Amino acid sequence: MIQLLANTRSKEYPVFLSAGASNDAGKLWSSQGRGGKIVIITDSNVANLFLGEVEQAFVSAGFGVKAIVVDAGEEAKSLSEATRLYSELYRLQTRRRDAICALGGGVVGDLAGFIASTYMRGIGLVQIPTTLLSQVDSSIGGKVGVNISEAKNFVGSFYQPDLVITDPSLLKTLPRDQLVEGLAEVVKYALLSGDEFFYALESSHEEFLMLNMAFVEPMVRRCIEYKLGVVSDDERDYGRRAVLNLGHSVAHGIETVGNYTAYSHGQAVALGLIAAIRISEQVFSLEGDYAARLESLLDLLGLPVRMEGIDPHAVTGAMASDKKADDLSANMVLLKQIGEPVINCDVDAAMLTREVERLAGE
Ligand SMILES: NC(=O)c1ccc[n+]([C@@H]2O[C@H](COP(=O)([O-])OP(=O)(O)OC[C@H]3O[C@@H](n4cnc5c(N)ncnc54)[C@H](O)[C@@H]3O)[C@@H](O)[C@H]2O)c1
Repeated sequence: MIQLLANTRSKEYPVFLSAGASNDAGKLWSSQGRGGKIVIITDSNVANLFLGEVEQAFVSAGFGVKAIVVDAGEEAKSLSEATRLYSELYRLQTRRRDAICALGGGVVGDLAGFIASTYMRGIGLVQIPTTLLSQVDSSIGGKVGVNISEAKNFVGSFYQPDLVITDPSLLKTLPRDQLVEGLAEVVKYALLSGDEFFYALESSHEEFLMLNMAFVEPMVRRCIEYKLGVVSDDERDYGRRAVLNLGHSVAHGIETVGNYTAYSHGQAVALGLIAAIRISEQVFSLEGDYAARLESLLDLLGLPVRMEGIDPHAVTGAMASDKKADDLSANMVLLKQIGEPVINCDVDAAMLTREVERLAGE
């Protein structure tokens, strides 16, 4: 079993990674010197697939276990669902020595993490991520929260887990479109990390799509290591952590204009990455034909390389009012070289418009 260490200002915690690691959840939690009971928060899909096994893993290590199931889907990330969960935890006599285990994708991780950060002013938190996106991204780094009707992720906190158990074998039941969602973030990490990772992804994309663990595990490890490095430098997102937004400003514009339905987050990120690389070629003379290589990789992975049915001017307009951009020309992450991101780049509005139009084939 691979053990990585998250070393943030607020907390140090281990991330255990291996196919089958979730079967050892109880032993791993016990090895952290923790007692009390475990309340597993999961969603209806994941409960059907893995709840029994994970419950058993904790029970066999001597823990009392309870479970709360929420409906699958983004709607569960709400204050009203959080209120229901607080009452449920109280009814289950959950106290500060107990812990919550978030078993699921990013929705469950963000919601259960938020509950753990606020219930009785904070109780223990174990993350067992079950989607690729949550394994490489949302389960680590401590951003937890819920949506409000006006905006996503607007209420939340920074609350690091005490333990993360990443088991890539859980991805085998993931619908293909959900796997591809996470792959957009994996491609982002490859661009941020350097050519070795990017090339590894180009040459093993088929094995990844087939979920050959010999390829998936090292890729997931690279992503986690990259994020852990960033978060240990800048837990609260005041500086370097912004590199993780590579491709995300254009993506957010596309998601907004498409009403969060025309393009999924991962699809929008794929398009945003293409725009960011093309702009990087112009601003920093990024070399290496990465725009073409990126398009071909995204295409092979089943991600879009053209934006259809979305007005590019509406996208740049939405970017101007994006929470991650003060005005149209600010706050894009670009690459000086592959593996060398630069945050807060001033991008000329005309250049940005041209590249978003180009995504639309104009
Ligand atoms: N906290 C962070 O740093 C951070 C970072 C990125 C994204 N997020 C958040 O993550 C959320 C998206 O997460 P997501 O993409 O994991 O979506 P999700 O949690 O909604 O999961 C996607 C779907 O897959 C199902 N599922 C989960 N694991 C499965 C498995 N192993 N087999 C079969 N089905 C499975 C779920 O029930 C759900 O229907 C968003 O709310 C986003 O805001 C948070």
